[in-house]
Amino acid sequence: ANPTLLILAGDGIGPEVMNEVTRIIDWFGEKRDLKFDVEHDLVGGAAYDAHGTPLHDDTMARALEADAVLLGAVGGPKYDDLDFSLKPERGLLRLRKEMDLFSNLRPAQCFDALADFSSLKPELVAGLDIMIVRELTSGVYFGEPRGIFEEGNERVGVNTQRYTESEIDRVARSAFELARKRNNKVCSMEKANVMESGILWREVVQKVHDEDYPDVELSHMYADNGAMQLVRAPKQFDVIVTDNLFGDILSDCAAMLTGSLGMLPSASLGAPNADGRPKAMYEPVHGSAPDITGQGKANPIACILSFAMALRYSFDHGDEATRLEKAVEKVLADGARTADLMGPEGGTPISTTEMGDVILA
Ligand code: NAI
Ligand code: MG
Repeated sequence: ANPTLLILAGDGIGPEVMNEVTRIIDWFGEKRDLKFDVEHDLVGGAAYDAHGTPLHDDTMARALEADAVLLGAVGGPKYDDLDFSLKPERGLLRLRKEMDLFSNLRPAQCFDALADFSSLKPELVAGLDIMIVRELTSGVYFGEPRGIFEEGNERVGVNTQRYTESEIDRVARSAFELARKRNNKVCSMEKANVMESGILWREVVQKVHDEDYPDVELSHMYADNGAMQLVRAPKQFDVIVTDNLFGDILSDCAAMLTGSLGMLPSASLGAPNADGRPKAMYEPVHGSAPDITGQGKANPIACILSFAMALRYSFDHGDEATRLEKAVEKVLADGARTADLMGPEGGTPISTTEMGDVILA
């Protein structure tokens, strides 16, 4: 049977960028005999409008069944006043939680043609291709006790950084598996100098490495130094694995090494199934961009590159993922630009569909 892809295009520019991905999926089916059984369903505001909930139970069940989920974006001003439990974002959070997507992959990849867009000197980022693996379901954002408590005559705000061995073990494995599909190199970041959770993190990552991934080159770095190194010489890294808090900050920092929000893909992975294929959801980093919705201005590349990640990390078609990435690289080198990629010197932007056209061509 063909692998199954569940497409949840969502709101705003979500359906616009996803439309280009659908055409690319069809192209792979026709030209490369790489066929998927594609299903479409609703999430976010679109699901709320149809069913009164940001994620219907049936959709949740289909997501758990699918080999991979591709998500566009959710949210928009229309839904801003809804109850917290009905907000579009809740649909996304439910997917992440019930699929138990503990490993968040954020690539920072710089196409040479866009090196001028970087916050850094072009030569530091041209050809950059690194991957930050952020633990997504534990750590200080979830640890107990948490709250604002009375203590003596003042209040104290408390969060708890907490990691179990098994939580560290599984995200470390996911980073080492990735490294084997890339350049066999992992740098783990924590603060073992000042944090107990950091000491355990370093120990468990090293143990997983020594027992099961001795072929992968592993180094450890304090996360503050990591932040410095990311900005000083980002090309020294390949895969970086880190906890939820440090990963949140380091991945946003790395994202700005490469320029526009319209270019950034992501993946969230869970436990592998019997075929070794992880539960997986792929989505662009950007949101639903209400300011440009319906105008044909959205850059579809972040969503297209998210599908390329699905090809590589869910379906073991790294070669076809590279084919797609090369097509993106080529059109950018040839000067194709959606409005978000226009520099101060200006020029004529192309539309969402035209960007899809040139990539397909
Ligand atoms: P946003 O990412 O939607 O937009 C920020 C800015 O970047 C806007 O000016 C937008 O036009 C531009 N932009 C974003 N993606 C683009 C693309 N592909 N091509 C060209 N330009 C692009 O973030 P914002 O404005 O903070 O949030 C808008 C809505 O999206 C809110 O409802 C928010 O909750 C939701 N959101 C959803 C996310 C998701 O579904 N994962 C993530 C972030 C925000
Ligand atoms: Mg963040």
